[in-house]
Amino acid sequence: MIRIAQIGYGYWGANVARNIIASDKTQLSALIDLRADRLKVAEQNFNGQVRYHSDYREFLQDPEIDAFALAIQTAPSFEIAKQILNAGKHLFIEKPMAADAEKATELNELARRNNLVLHVDHIMLYHPIIRRIKQMYESGELGDLIYFDISRMNLGPIRLDVNAMLDLAVHDLAVIDFISGGKEPYHVEAIGEKHYGSQETLTYLTLKYDGFLAHIKSSWISPIKERRTMIGGTKKMVIFDDMKTLDKLTIFDQGIIEPSEEYGEYEFKTRTGDITIPYIRQEDALRNSVEHFAHCIVNGTQSISDGAHGVKVTRILDEAKRKLILND
Ligand SMILES: NC(=O)c1ccc[n+]([C@@H]2O[C@H](COP(=O)([O-])OP(=O)(O)OC[C@H]3O[C@@H](n4cnc5c(N)ncnc54)[C@H](O)[C@@H]3O)[C@@H](O)[C@H]2O)c1
Repeated sequence: MIRIAQIGYGYWGANVARNIIASDKTQLSALIDLRADRLKVAEQNFNGQVRYHSDYREFLQDPEIDAFALAIQTAPSFEIAKQILNAGKHLFIEKPMAADAEKATELNELARRNNLVLHVDHIMLYHPIIRRIKQMYESGELGDLIYFDISRMNLGPIRLDVNAMLDLAVHDLAVIDFISGGKEPYHVEAIGEKHYGSQETLTYLTLKYDGFLAHIKSSWISPIKERRTMIGGTKKMVIFDDMKTLDKLTIFDQGIIEPSEEYGEYEFKTRTGDITIPYIRQEDALRNSVEHFAHCIVNGTQSISDGAHGVKVTRILDEAKRKLILND
């Protein structure tokens, strides 16, 4: 059992803590939040084994703690993450890993120097549907990648320390990196608008990778919640709609047929085939993420969403931020 001290029990921290407790690979040993009311809510939810505190520094040198989970806002998380890694504790850190690539790189270096597991909670990498799509690409079933068309929109919550892109597109950039086997874009375009507060409420990100394009819409100002990823391959196309229940993944055996010179054809024809909805066992992506973190600590392996992966994603976001300023 990996004994974890979690910092932050807000909206998302409540989900992280619930999964740490529910897993038989992890134990929630301590829960830290600055807000007494949040700790009170936690105490009502959990049994007496958890120690509650308002100051994480109490646990940095605690030999009974193997690792920390950091689920606070992005701005203050960097300094705390450094202290955790300097104290020799493994770290599960919420996305975005840091506000910029310089900070993300510093955390990654620190973890590597101290031989620690640094796991960025890019939760979609632990989603069974994303894993299935990755398998489809790697086995050749999808063909070559042509595009990713992604929207992640909802009404709020408006975050104050990061924009919609750092809050939402971060997931999609992580997914593209994961599915494509680590490809990085060579051209990034971004536009956005600040409607409420000092951060962009709505961003459109367009990226050019070697062989495929990606378009990512991130919005805190949508009347409907949408979590939709469409991926076009040369052989098949897929739509992953995370708002659906059993039919989250639809596979279209459709595409375009190249004209055959041999038969003197000159037109591109469309090819339409089966549309299938495969059965995929439901799994909790956050539980998988927490358990992967524990597995890496026990086995001394690197996380799929390790610090280096987090740095790559943050670097793309840095470039997109530059473009947001240029296009403002
Ligand atoms: N992986 C995901 O899918 C996902 C989804 C939502 C949010 N998140 C991330 O989770 C993090 C938290 O988001 P949230 O919506 O829960 O925020 P939140 O504001 O609801 O909660 C943050 C909590 O951290 C506490 N806190 C802040 N600084 C602290 C400190 N120094 N010591 C102790 N407690 C402290 C606050 O009191 C608050 O209770 C963010 O980084 C966000 O991006 C991830």
